[in-house]
Amino acid sequence: MKKVTASAPGKLMLFGEHSVVYGHPCLVTAVDQRLSVTVERNGENIFELDAPDLGLKSYSKHVSDLGKKQLPQAVRFIETLYKIFLEKYPQKESVHVITKSDFSANFGFGSSSASTVAFAKAISVLYGQKLDKRELFDLCYQVVIEVQGVGSGFDLAAAIWGGTLYYVPPAEKVENIKLPKLSIVVGYTGVKADTPTLVRMVQNLKVDHPKKVNQVFNDITRLVGVARHELTKQKWSQVGKLMTENHQLLKKLQVSSRELEKLTKASLQAGAYGAKLSGAGGGDCMIAVVNDKTRDKVATAIEKAGGQIMTVKTQAQGVNVVHSEK
Ligand code: PMV
Repeated sequence: MKKVTASAPGKLMLFGEHSVVYGHPCLVTAVDQRLSVTVERNGENIFELDAPDLGLKSYSKHVSDLGKKQLPQAVRFIETLYKIFLEKYPQKESVHVITKSDFSANFGFGSSSASTVAFAKAISVLYGQKLDKRELFDLCYQVVIEVQGVGSGFDLAAAIWGGTLYYVPPAEKVENIKLPKLSIVVGYTGVKADTPTLVRMVQNLKVDHPKKVNQVFNDITRLVGVARHELTKQKWSQVGKLMTENHQLLKKLQVSSRELEKLTKASLQAGAYGAKLSGAGGGDCMIAVVNDKTRDKVATAIEKAGGQIMTVKTQAQGVNVVHSEK
């Protein structure tokens, strides 16, 4: 192939953040806020990248220098992936890469995981290197660990498999749970959270209070199991209750924030079945479980409390090739 564009969805954590980092299961849904990556052979030994949504223009590097020197935030995942890919599958010709996002990197929908997955898919197709979903995951997960040091890979799984997943890291179990719908409202706090920092905070808390933190993780795991069942049965009042419980447990891990508390409380007061932070905490997004009658009221309450409603389609399709030229 000469040119390939692949697109991958973002994600929203439903249940089980933080404990998933330690091998426990979680429930995640892919959201239809997609990130697309176009790769084109450039006939040279120079890797070129344009990521206008991240404020990066005309970045270039000789292939033999890939991964060397401090990498700008915007290129870390893609450049590291390209380096690892070429080590595994050497190529004669490099590429020009353009990334394009449906959403801001601030929302916590997983722009780095979606771009890593979309880029991995695009270059594997461009170079004719067949990779199944599991191989794609392993390649991308290696990148996340190299760049970030920590992470369960749940966001990569959502970007690769799509839908709503029961996930045990690192892709030990990836089970697609088919849901007719997900009755939720998503609110953005306006605060960008730094996931690795929050993961390390929990890591430190676990060192200081291992018994307490392990108990919280076990309690979350129990909730994830019940939630999977109630989601399948579409029992929204039960799902809501479980979300609120999960949120309380996350508060014990000290990862909530003033803004997240404001938005979750406002949703409950407006009649939501339940609400929780979604993702690492400290900011980013929260979720409230609603029904058709309470949906608008809850959304208005979130906005009044200073949040921004994110209209997202959940259970989006996993990574796919949207365009290719021979
Ligand atoms: O902040 P997010 O949306 O990327 O979610 C992080 C979820 C954690 O469990 C805290 C970390 C992880 O890699 O699973």
